Amino acid sequence: MTARAPRGYLAAMRIGVLGTGPVGQAIATRLVELGHDVTMGARDAANEKAAGWARDHGAGAGTFGQAAAGAELVVNATAGSHSLDVLARADPGPATVVLDVSNALDGNVPPGLTVPYGDSTAERLQRAHPGTRVVKALNTMNCDVMVHPELVPGEHDVFVAGDDAAAKAAVTGLLRQFGWPEAAIRDVGPLSAARGLEAAVLFWVALRLAIGHNRFNLHVTDGSAPSS
Ligand SMILES: NC(=O)c1ccc[n+]([C@@H]2O[C@H](COP(=O)([O-])OP(=O)(O)OC[C@H]3O[C@@H](n4cnc5c(N)ncnc54)[C@H](OP(=O)(O)O)[C@@H]3O)[C@@H](O)[C@H]2O)c1
Repeated sequence: MTARAPRGYLAAMRIGVLGTGPVGQAIATRLVELGHDVTMGARDAANEKAAGWARDHGAGAGTFGQAAAGAELVVNATAGSHSLDVLARADPGPATVVLDVSNALDGNVPPGLTVPYGDSTAERLQRAHPGTRVVKALNTMNCDVMVHPELVPGEHDVFVAGDDAAAKAAVTGLLRQFGWPEAAIRDVGPLSAARGLEAAVLFWVALRLAIGHNRFNLHVTDGSAPSS
């Protein structure tokens, strides 16, 4: 537990971050900085990346199940092709908000997705855990940009999809804490919109190759969103 008060709109939450890779580390670190009570989860309770991160940040580490136990919000930051298995191991409790940032890349060059056309990892997670409330967000950008949007100059957007308004509000509150301006947080509708958000990673990879670095993001201009 930590005594630091979170900046922004939410009280400190108990959050399980499933994933020890760059995304899990970036999100978990930012959440600790913001005063949340964070446990990082891995397949193995003795996972050295999770244990080392927890030591360095005064936070918790354990199995996926231990990270999700008692959590109000769980972040799925695991390899998308294995996220169904991960969430089964984590077994989040009823009403838990599941923030899914995963992409199910197939490892090929150029990349494809392991989720078939007409479905998404987020919807699969929701179907497998109907008591939880899955929200898709943040998967359309690099992990440093996710938690530090100021790294990309100018206006750029984060997209949020989900079927539960309160769960979306909880995720949106976290995004504001990360530093996302109100006008940059784009609600793109129900969880089925995750199909497009997940497919966008294919475009992201092409942009990454063309631009030559990770610190870029997408921005939608439609004339309706006020500048912030
Ligand atoms: N890197 C980025 O900037 C970025 C940006 C947007 C979205 N994403 C997406 O975010 C997710 C996390 O990405 P990442 O780059 O941090 O790391 P990653 O290498 O894609 O995923 C690491 C996590 O996946 C788990 N994992 C791997 N194989 C597994 C298996 N067979 N069964 C169960 N769990 C398995 C690992 O578990 P252990 O800890 O137990 O090894 C680890 O926690 C991915 O879906 C990625 O596509 C990444």
